[in-house]
Amino acid sequence: MTTATTRPATALKPTTDPLQLIDVDHVQFYVGNAKQAAFFYAHCFGFQIEQVCDLTTGSRDAAHYLLTQGNIRFILSTPLTPEHPAAMEVAMYGDGVKDVAFTVFDAEKAWERAVKNGATSAYEPRTYRDEHGTVTMAGIRTYGRVCHSFVSRTGAYDLTKVKQGGVFKPRFRKLAEGAACEPARGCAPQAGVSSVLAINEYNKKNPCGLKYVDHLVGNVEMGKMNHWVAFYENVLEFTMFKHFDDKDISTDYSALMSKVMASGNNLIKMPINEPAEGKKKSQVQEYLDWHMNTPGVQHLALRTDDELHSIAALRSRGVDFLTLPDAYYDQVWGRVNKMLTDHGHSAVKEDHQRVRDLGILVDADDEGYLLQLFTKPLQDRPTLFFEIICRRGSQSFGKGNFKALFEALELEQERRGNL
Ligand code: FE2
Repeated sequence: MTTATTRPATALKPTTDPLQLIDVDHVQFYVGNAKQAAFFYAHCFGFQIEQVCDLTTGSRDAAHYLLTQGNIRFILSTPLTPEHPAAMEVAMYGDGVKDVAFTVFDAEKAWERAVKNGATSAYEPRTYRDEHGTVTMAGIRTYGRVCHSFVSRTGAYDLTKVKQGGVFKPRFRKLAEGAACEPARGCAPQAGVSSVLAINEYNKKNPCGLKYVDHLVGNVEMGKMNHWVAFYENVLEFTMFKHFDDKDISTDYSALMSKVMASGNNLIKMPINEPAEGKKKSQVQEYLDWHMNTPGVQHLALRTDDELHSIAALRSRGVDFLTLPDAYYDQVWGRVNKMLTDHGHSAVKEDHQRVRDLGILVDADDEGYLLQLFTKPLQDRPTLFFEIICRRGSQSFGKGNFKALFEALELEQERRGNL
């Protein structure tokens, strides 16, 4: 049974493998209004609104906000001009994930290797530098609108320093410093900055307990799953971790297929879904219909060590979660605890009634169990959502919950007129 709070990969030493991933550097979202989105993720999910890069720091075409919690770093980016590529993407897809960026030892070498392995470049290596250090980034395209950036950092921009509160990249500034310098200039603190400080202070005192990105799921078009599996194998040198077919993931009405790709050091798992034929529309097809029939990130699973605490905190902040029928709990304890005792593990230690009261899902496999819960879509389009997951030994994805979950999702699809 494991209750790891940090990734094993943090102790990596440089090797000759340019595609060795050190960490998930950040996940970048393109959003319609980053300033407002920052408050949504801070208020509902407990993120710190830590740094900004905008007109005040010399960024003339886009504004970026760094949000952090545990080892999770989100960059929320919004275009300031119609020519910025994010402007067209937001118009086409709404808010969503643009870039899943990996920290590596040498971004240029990683990019060269990935391109040699068959990747299409999203952008060539570029270095941002100032007197404190450098950040080098280079990107490759993956499914649909999404890209993977490779990021290597030196000096004050080293990831360990960023994790300790250091500046993320040249042209970013800490919001707390913005507030501190205002009185020194003899003027009142900016209202916007003081609201950021207030919500950051509240979140420090009332943590939601989210630690890092456990996995990140992509939806691709029907018939394209194996193409993207091969892409992750060939280009990023990932391996297949698990796969599920439409017999595992279907109800009477809708279905999907899924394969889970994992990086060499298991730093990140990236399941890839494609819709499968059913009597009614697959949830993956619903996503694609509202995403210009373009693949993209369906959900980010955020890891916690205490599911009950995290879900209670998020519910109290107004996060909308999928609701399962009460009948789910009539069978789940028997199924899960039998699996655990059959494999020599102790039963689920969390209070069963509280799990039920909070609407949390439970599943087990031969290695242990997991607790998970899924939010409703995070924006008006039925596209991106979050999963909050706690692993007690299990390294899988809640296969035993698929059927109940899909029936709950179908109810939501029906409410949206999309089934
Ligand atoms: Fe998931």
